[in-house]
Amino acid sequence: MPARILLVLVSCALSVVIGLVIARGGAGVTAARQRPLIGLSMDTLKEERWQVDRDLFTAKAQAAGADVLVQCANSNDATQLQDVESLITQKVDALVIIPHNGAAMAKAVNLAHQAGIPVLSYDRLITGCEVDLYLTFDNIRVGELQAKFLTDRIPAGGKLRLVRIYGAKTDNNAKLFKQGQDNVLQPLIAAGKVEVIFEDWAEDWKPESAKKITNAAITKNGPNFDAVLASNDGTAGGAIQALTEEGLAGKVIVTGQDADLAACQRIAQGTQAMTVYKPIESIATKEAELALKLAQRKPVVAKDSIPNGKMDVPMVLLDIIPVTKENLRETVVKDGFHKEADVFQPNQP
Ligand code: GAL
Repeated sequence: MPARILLVLVSCALSVVIGLVIARGGAGVTAARQRPLIGLSMDTLKEERWQVDRDLFTAKAQAAGADVLVQCANSNDATQLQDVESLITQKVDALVIIPHNGAAMAKAVNLAHQAGIPVLSYDRLITGCEVDLYLTFDNIRVGELQAKFLTDRIPAGGKLRLVRIYGAKTDNNAKLFKQGQDNVLQPLIAAGKVEVIFEDWAEDWKPESAKKITNAAITKNGPNFDAVLASNDGTAGGAIQALTEEGLAGKVIVTGQDADLAACQRIAQGTQAMTVYKPIESIATKEAELALKLAQRKPVVAKDSIPNGKMDVPMVLLDIIPVTKENLRETVVKDGFHKEADVFQPNQP
């Protein structure tokens, strides 16, 4: 490889590393403290996965020699800002934020930086500010897998009539999931093989909001549709409640995401067709590693980046696994994410 290109590549890599360290300055772990203190500001604990995220991250960070302070904002932006302010006051060495509203948390990041505290945007992107690092799963691929599962089942010579339930408009991930779904659907919609008969965004990812959307779709079109493209398991559960009331559960194909226990049980029973498993064990491990490095002002390597409207945020991207009835045992059970008995015989003592 010509020396000049090698030089450019090395200096780029160095800039990512050095850039991160210098940007925050500050001494890192405050002198008085033996163990780094990491602040975790969460949007919600409403979905099962966030409880798992919290517990696994806390355990792994503690095992790696850090202490963790956790705050949960229950989907309220003002509360989440107060949570971050209180963590800053407690002089955390690094902050991990799971934003309820990616744009609203830009202010929180700016406050943290004024205090010399680096910020890791976890799972969901914080937009419109200079955030230090973003760790997440491949959200666009989540949407592509969900849509492809449905388009692989378009009846021969037929058409797929679809209800689409997007996530919370405040969540940048909901837009990335939709983008992935659109990547697969658009050409087939143009070819007349897919028809979207109803679509809407589920406020705060609430199952009850997804149920209302499905009820509205049935009121408008009757039972004349083949599938519900639900963006996560919570909204899938809400849609399936509406379908059950109409005797359509198991007849209409429903997608999901997160591999919640309830969703895996529905997949085993046949009322939900698929979900996307996001191994929380792997992302929580990475989260602890990266948060600790930020707290100790150690270099962090991020191979990818994503524009957030203010900058290209260094990004660490983890992979995901599609789950159906056929591979429940080889995925979520084998990983110990759920017990076989809980998934397949939920009501057995
Ligand atoms: C998304 C997250 C999903 C899902 C949803 C609802 O941001 O990536 O896993 O849980 O929030 O909380």
